[in-house]
Amino acid sequence: MAIINVHDKSFETYLSEETIQQRVKELADAINEDYSGHRPLFIAILNGSFMFAADLFKYLTIEADICFIKLASYKGMKSSGKVVTSIGLEDDLFDKEVIILEDIVDTGKTLHNFLPKLLHQQPRSLKIAALLHKPEATEYPLTLDYVGFQIPNKFVVGYGLDYDGLGRNLKEIYQLV
Ligand code: IMP
Ligand code: MG
Repeated sequence: MAIINVHDKSFETYLSEETIQQRVKELADAINEDYSGHRPLFIAILNGSFMFAADLFKYLTIEADICFIKLASYKGMKSSGKVVTSIGLEDDLFDKEVIILEDIVDTGKTLHNFLPKLLHQQPRSLKIAALLHKPEATEYPLTLDYVGFQIPNKFVVGYGLDYDGLGRNLKEIYQLV
């Protein structure tokens, strides 16, 4: 098992590149089936979900739109509790079939706070696809429609996820040792 260092912490391999790709393709296949003949709008939440969004999008065979917004509530290894929006949503969601793409749902606060803003625009439907979910950490009620992996409540980096800015470039996902 590979051990890597990011800043002052050691991380070990948790999900291989192959495992992640396989699962992302399965999620895309499920979406291809569920949205067959439709044209959903994906909203990818930056920064963490950029890699997941790019890979998932490549496995789609249906027509689909994508846009990006920036939400953040994290500083270092702990949720700051405050959700900050720094890039707003320009697309009109009225009557659209929307799928949110999130790298990881931890406490659930980010999405829980953000969903009412989206629902306010009256999309026809609103679903959530999260690559990772930490069920033990989730404090805010959320229905996740597509989940890549349920993981324990341990900090992870890689595949878009960072520890204080670093680690996003890793093709695998690593867990804090
Ligand atoms: P929540 O609002 O607590 O659900 O946090 C969601 C956001 O926190 C995610 O979109 C990530 O950007 C970040 N986050 C949560 N857990 C981790 C982790 O283990 N590693 C890196 N970032 C994380
Ligand atoms: Mg995120």
